Amino acid sequence: RVESTYAMLKPDVASKKEVVAEIIKMINEAGLTVERKELCRLSKSLCKEFYAEHSERPFYNDLVDFMSSAPVLKLEVSGPDAIKTWRKLLGPTNSEKAKEEAPGSIRARFGTDGMRNAGHGSDSKESFAREYALMFKGGGFPKI
Ligand code: CMP
Repeated sequence: RVESTYAMLKPDVASKKEVVAEIIKMINEAGLTVERKELCRLSKSLCKEFYAEHSERPFYNDLVDFMSSAPVLKLEVSGPDAIKTWRKLLGPTNSEKAKEEAPGSIRARFGTDGMRNAGHGSDSKESFAREYALMFKGGGFPKI
């Protein structure tokens, strides 16, 4: 079934033109389409809200600092099973683990560790609705 997901390239890759081009190529080769694309610097408060479910985790403050440190590339990606397909392209959350388990994945190829892992993807339709509203109908400062 055709659906959309919220995909986000994080500050460790969002400004690297060749990496972004390669990831968009992977998206298209998986049968998905980029519907919307915005390079934005996120405020700390928006990052806090976006990752609110992790607020009790020890890495929360570092994550918020990282995500607000430089621009991210916000994407709406659509196509058959877009949510699952994009998360499969990303690979395991931790890039070090991804290098072992899914060496061709985005997080293996372009990420560094458990936090600087190149990309994010909604984990459900409900998450997509929340994340899309937050990122495309509210916050961030467009850079281009
Ligand atoms: P993401 O898929 O965007 O969802 C939550 C993010 O928190 C995750 O990617 C990582 O960037 C970060 N994260 C998850 N687990 C850890 C961890 N153990 N240490 C540091 N950062 C983490």
